Amino acid sequence: MKLGALNFLVCPSCKSELELRVQLQQGSEVVEGNLSCGQCGVEYPIVRGIPRFVKTGAYASSFGYQWSWFRTVQLDSCNGTHESERTLAETTGWKEEDYKGRLVLDVGVGAGRFAEIVAKKDAEVVGIDLTTAVDVAYSNFGRHEKIHLIQADLFAMPFREETFDLAYSIGVLHHTPDPRAAFERVAATVKKGGALAVYLYAGYGPTHHFPDMIRKVTTRLPLRMMFAISAIAVPLYYLYRLPVLGKVLRLLPLISLHPSWRWRWLDTFDWYTPRYQWKLLYPEVFRWFRTNGLLDIEVFDDPIRMRGVKTGWAS
Ligand SMILES: C[S@@+](CC[C@H](N)C(=O)[O-])C[C@H]1O[C@@H](n2cnc3c(N)ncnc32)[C@H](O)[C@@H]1O
Ligand SMILES: [Zn+2]
Repeated sequence: MKLGALNFLVCPSCKSELELRVQLQQGSEVVEGNLSCGQCGVEYPIVRGIPRFVKTGAYASSFGYQWSWFRTVQLDSCNGTHESERTLAETTGWKEEDYKGRLVLDVGVGAGRFAEIVAKKDAEVVGIDLTTAVDVAYSNFGRHEKIHLIQADLFAMPFREETFDLAYSIGVLHHTPDPRAAFERVAATVKKGGALAVYLYAGYGPTHHFPDMIRKVTTRLPLRMMFAISAIAVPLYYLYRLPVLGKVLRLLPLISLHPSWRWRWLDTFDWYTPRYQWKLLYPEVFRWFRTNGLLDIEVFDDPIRMRGVKTGWAS
């Protein structure tokens, strides 16, 4: 944890300032210590460089394993592509100059692929995650001077309202028990005049019904078994590439068809293991933006990628 995090971290319950006690510091990084709330007396430990506002990954713990098994697959700096940078741009529409000098919230940071990109654009980025994915993000980028990593639940974030200039949440809210409530919590952290962008699974078309039925079984299987089973996507892809059979199979995509074998394994695991995986529709997400005072809404290409600008009033 960087000392600068005290500028925005508060007690998640009462929103009072936190007092830092340091047990081990390396340069400007607090590695072990705790944060205590003078108001409610609760202590939040700092363990292995990360302030911890939750004790477990709860319903989302599959992601802790997911990101520790696929820790660098989607990092542009490791795979030599700009795919994550493109996903971020196609979800937010924000340009280089929109980031410069801003305080940005990454909700559900995972292994940190978007935080890496945002930090390169000269913004200060705060990544939160409910699970031990945050330890993976820390091993990837924890010592980066512009990246803060925090283990916290988006439903009880250790920030005051209207703290961030920009916030984004990519592939996260549909994995919570209540995506609309999750959206409200994230929207509340954005300053007036700031902006929020989200990426959500869409519920259009019939193709997700069969995988959803399979999920009824796979979400109950041991994660190590699912790790092995999802590797089937690596060779199966070549059947999907065949001229005639492939065309038929592609009507019902049961595995990720990403050209990188590691990415396809990861994505397939990611489809079949999380407890929650809601599919949303454009009108409802549009209403979430408006009722939370986010207007000037832009809709990007699928699945559901939208962003809005925070105004003082809801409509
Ligand atoms: C599919 S991953 C996406 C990670 C990252 N945004 C990306 O696209 O690479 C979803 C992430 O959301 C996190 N998550 C789920 N529920 C959460 C919650 N209530 N609070 C914070 N993070 C949560 C999971 O732990 C997981 O790392
Ligand atoms: Zn408190």
